[in-house]
Amino acid sequence: MTIRAILLLTFFSLGFGCWWQASAQLSPVPVPVENPITETKRVLGKILFWDEQLSSNDTVACGTCHQPAFGGGDSRYGRYTGSDKGTIDDVWGSPGVVHMDQSGDPVAHSMFGFEPQVTPRLTPSNFGSLWATEQFWDGRATSEFLDPLTGEIVIATGGSLENQATSPLFNPVEMAKSGRTWEDLTSKLESVDPLALASDIPQDMLEAIQSNRDYPSLFQAAFGDKNITPVRIVFAIATYQRTLVPDQTPWDYYMAGDENALSEDAKFGWRVFQELRCVNCHEPPLFTNNDYLNIGLRLSKYDLGRQAITGIEEDGGEVKVPSLRNVGLKARFMHTGEFSRLSEAIVFYDNAIALPGRDDIPNGGAYNFNITGYVPYDLEAFLRNGLTDPRVKNETFPFDRPKLNSEKESLLPE
Ligand code: HEC
Ligand code: HEC
Repeated sequence: MTIRAILLLTFFSLGFGCWWQASAQLSPVPVPVENPITETKRVLGKILFWDEQLSSNDTVACGTCHQPAFGGGDSRYGRYTGSDKGTIDDVWGSPGVVHMDQSGDPVAHSMFGFEPQVTPRLTPSNFGSLWATEQFWDGRATSEFLDPLTGEIVIATGGSLENQATSPLFNPVEMAKSGRTWEDLTSKLESVDPLALASDIPQDMLEAIQSNRDYPSLFQAAFGDKNITPVRIVFAIATYQRTLVPDQTPWDYYMAGDENALSEDAKFGWRVFQELRCVNCHEPPLFTNNDYLNIGLRLSKYDLGRQAITGIEEDGGEVKVPSLRNVGLKARFMHTGEFSRLSEAIVFYDNAIALPGRDDIPNGGAYNFNITGYVPYDLEAFLRNGLTDPRVKNETFPFDRPKLNSEKESLLPE
């Protein structure tokens, strides 16, 4: 499409008014009936999320990789190279823990030696998919949540966040020593001081810890007795995440009627974003349809994506469409992390070379974007300025958080 055609289309669609008006507001985050939100559970979840003691060697918290100021993603990166460095299958992932044996002693890893290991995919936002029925790029954390100890159904539907949270705690790349058990984790939490390694602790967390000085007391406040169980750990973490709702972006105010909330460039970008059919996948108001699609970034042989879960060949290379709220804060882009600038992620769509396996646009026909002239700049203005919630960027409540031990200056190399 030429710019001229886009302009014509713009006037055409404006003539019909704003067709997204009906869905302009984010719906409330779905909460499973089995795990209602309470304040004591939320604060406990926030403490657990930011406590590096949840990892086997006290070096990594959930928040190490999921930082609000970087859109819920990671400001750091490492290279996951496979067996060959610097080739087409490299991924820019998040550093986790050093490789540890069953007693928690460091052991050399074939790819990373004694350095922190790196995740084989980029860290997505932990609050970008609060509305999704499944979690992870490939959706492998599903909606039904079973008690990890008994196998009983604890949440019938809507428990993907609870399900997801069980995974990093035992992942030997992210937070765990080899063969870590729930018993290892729950007995550790019984004895450590909450957030012992953190500093600059926000008021709500500080007050909770001052009235309940150890984890058993914090669990009692949240759940009625001092038992620390796997189900309770992930219930609290999921509850905290469900309160991280990034719904105060300039776009939200613009759609609510404040004409001045978006800059002129961002307004133009918003129109182009609709006309180019970006909205067919990055569907407002979430800016994702939570579906799995292949945009032809990489051959699926390097990462099967959704196909690894469904076993269906057509799903090869498909990943969850990421929400674009706060995308301007992210340090790297796409599940491979291969772009370090938002503009690269946008201009990628101008690439006319179709990689095999690329999906058509849902209800939008073939994939032929023409992103030239001012279009990439306007799109960037829209995504960067229009979709950033200032509370996320500035890490103010509910997106505030303590400083981690790993972020203290004394730990940085001289
Ligand atoms: C070492 C870095 C690291 C740590 C620590 C970590 N994560 Fe993640 N997180 C990731 C990566 C990488 C993915 C994507 C993995 C994939 O899709 O295969 C992810 C995915 C997620 C998702 C899914 C988001 C989506 O859009 O599907 C959520 C939610 C999440 N993490 C929450 C957590 C919680 C809660 C913890 C702590 C219990 C945690 N993470 C610890 C790196 C990390
Ligand atoms: C066919 C569905 C589809 C369409 C249409 C689409 N996207 Fe995407 N978008 C995706 C998927 C899927 C990803 C993640 C791809 C990956 O990681 O391999 C993505 C990723 C992105 C990212 C990086 C986000 C992140 O967190 O890393 C940006 C920015 C983006 N898209 C912008 C756009 C723009 C601008 C348009 C219109 C020109 C557009 N998209 C059209 C599906 C789509």
